[in-house]
Amino acid sequence: MKLMAFNGSPRKKGNTATMIEHALEGARGAGAEVELIHLYHLDFKGCSSCFACKRHGRREIGVCALKDDLQPVLERFREADALLLGTPVYYSCELACTRAFLERLQFPYLNYADYSKPHFPGKIATGLIYTMNVPESRLDELGYPSMFERTRANLARHFGSCELLLSTNTTQYSDYDKFETGFDKNDKARQRAEQFPRDLQAAKELGARLARGYQA
Ligand SMILES: Cc1cc2nc3c(=O)[nH]c(=O)nc-3n(C[C@H](O)[C@H](O)[C@H](O)COP(=O)(O)O)c2cc1C
Repeated sequence: MKLMAFNGSPRKKGNTATMIEHALEGARGAGAEVELIHLYHLDFKGCSSCFACKRHGRREIGVCALKDDLQPVLERFREADALLLGTPVYYSCELACTRAFLERLQFPYLNYADYSKPHFPGKIATGLIYTMNVPESRLDELGYPSMFERTRANLARHFGSCELLLSTNTTQYSDYDKFETGFDKNDKARQRAEQFPRDLQAAKELGARLARGYQA
């Protein structure tokens, strides 16, 4: 069982990466082989709308024609048994890097002739982790749940299933006295000490579930 994990954050040791690392620990513990890709540090763009992946008579199904740093990663992903994507929220949605990745990952597998029959061979377990500044109590007011669900449902449609995990009220700075903020630094310190460890444990458990593979 091979789990491929993708970090959309520019920060290799930030909140998202830490959540992913814990998920990978859980997956390794359950016997999975894991690979982590820091997407932001690859040179790639989103879908170019060339439609090579939709052309009749194409040599391969489910392959993106763009040749860049993401291409060999997408090739390896075809052999993966599970996928984990972690992303911060920027401006109330996934940051640009994650969106570009999702376009390139999913569009070649989207069957334009029949959306219910994706071109991806078989079904795999996938997980989607979001980290964000805002506290859980504000998610509905800001309309975030529909954004999370849209992306989760898209992954499930392409690959068979997708589990969502959120880490809210994250810490953005190590020292809140040094930067502009509207957040209460004591509240942030409390969440870091109390809530974040629970989120990390949930990530570890998610990783272990992904390592068990697709469950109908
Ligand atoms: C440009 C930018 C925009 C952001 N926009 C939001 C936002 O709309 N909502 C939110 O909850 N957090 C927002 N954040 C905060 C990050 O989502 C949050 O700190 C996240 O945990 C960062 O993850 P990382 O440490 O893995 O980079 C933003 C951060 C940046 C840098």
